[in-house]
Amino acid sequence: MFTIITGAQFGDEGKGKIVDLLTGDYDIIARFQGGDNAGHTIVVGGETYKLHLVPSGIHYRARLLIGPGTVMNPVVLMDELMKLKKSGIDITPARLGIDAKTSIIMPYHIELDSLHESARSDKIGTTKRGIGYAYIDKVARDEIQMIDIADSGRFMKRLKELAQQKEAAIAAMGGRRGVVTDQGHIKEYSEIGRKLAPYITDVSHEINRALAGGKKVLAEGAQGTHLDIIHGTQKYVTSSSTVAGSACANLGIGPKRVDEVIGVIKAYITRVGEGPLPTEQKNKIGEHLREKGGEFGTTTGRPRRCGWFDLPLARKAVDLNGYTGMALTKLDVLTGLDPVKICVQYTCNGKTAGYPPELASELSQCAPVYEEMEGWEDDLSGVKSFGDMPEGAQTYVKRLEELIGVDITYVSVGPGREQTFIR
Ligand code: IMP
Repeated sequence: MFTIITGAQFGDEGKGKIVDLLTGDYDIIARFQGGDNAGHTIVVGGETYKLHLVPSGIHYRARLLIGPGTVMNPVVLMDELMKLKKSGIDITPARLGIDAKTSIIMPYHIELDSLHESARSDKIGTTKRGIGYAYIDKVARDEIQMIDIADSGRFMKRLKELAQQKEAAIAAMGGRRGVVTDQGHIKEYSEIGRKLAPYITDVSHEINRALAGGKKVLAEGAQGTHLDIIHGTQKYVTSSSTVAGSACANLGIGPKRVDEVIGVIKAYITRVGEGPLPTEQKNKIGEHLREKGGEFGTTTGRPRRCGWFDLPLARKAVDLNGYTGMALTKLDVLTGLDPVKICVQYTCNGKTAGYPPELASELSQCAPVYEEMEGWEDDLSGVKSFGDMPEGAQTYVKRLEELIGVDITYVSVGPGREQTFIR
């Protein structure tokens, strides 16, 4: 059984929480793209865990895998492993595997990302984690891989090959010299590489063997559909493919193996960084959503931009991912708003459209057309089943389901694991 979970909007849909909820049923949880630009918040027993790299299934016995399509900052991973250990969760090599070919985010990638972003007149608003530059090196075949940092001789040889090119790139952008040859960094990476060596594995082989043996595998997406490097709202996107098909390509699993594709979608929409967001509410409604929804970036702490549910974008997400079911999150955040609104179509250049135009420049010109529904006042946080919810909330979910055309299988009404129910 192979299930893929992706975010259906611009990231931060609550994927970590849904993965955590499902993990008990799976043998393997695998990350397939992105890096520590992602931030997954999981709340269990009142304790909050913020993860950037370790797959979300930490609380069960499932094996956790970081696939070769990800870009990994070993300092961040080590820090996460230490913090988890302190809270009593020991992620040993028996629990976590890192693919030998995983691209390593080097300090010079972070430097280049920051320099480039600061120099842009029209900003993207990247997380400045070096994600884009690590992927550039993968495509240019100039990457340093997990296997390289695990062996200091191999690591030094690779760094020597790349040093001049990287120093020149940093200098050309007005950056400081010596980032590549900084002995502190080299020592830190070598030490962490040595510690992570026992975690190295062949992720594709592991997953294919597990599937052949009847095991259950869950691929956990990071970021969201509309941040996809190919199909997203360029240039305001991340540097990896965030849609479901990417899980197959990046983990090395044939597409015929896929059984289920679950889209995680918020009851409203948010976006961090720049780029079009047609339903954005720069007013009291936006503030309500941000404050009540805790809409501040897990990775950067930046306030998220908030708006009403955007159906045209949801429709496109269904197409790009082929969802077989949806998980609707943060429905409780809408409590107290009356009316609640759903953007059912746009007006773009004088015409109505139920599907987003292909180009971000055109999307930014689109005005939302709303369907209004009666809101509800009752707190949802203690609700245990769909039928217990106030009428307004039930009607909202049913209407979304009808409009999206995919079953909403999970509804989440709070951060805790017990605050999600299956319909
Ligand atoms: P990068 O991934 O750091 O290069 O940033 C590119 C864009 O993707 C920026 O707009 C970021 O805010 C956004 N982004 C990256 N990761 C996430 C995420 O996990 N959630 C939401 N937005 C993200």
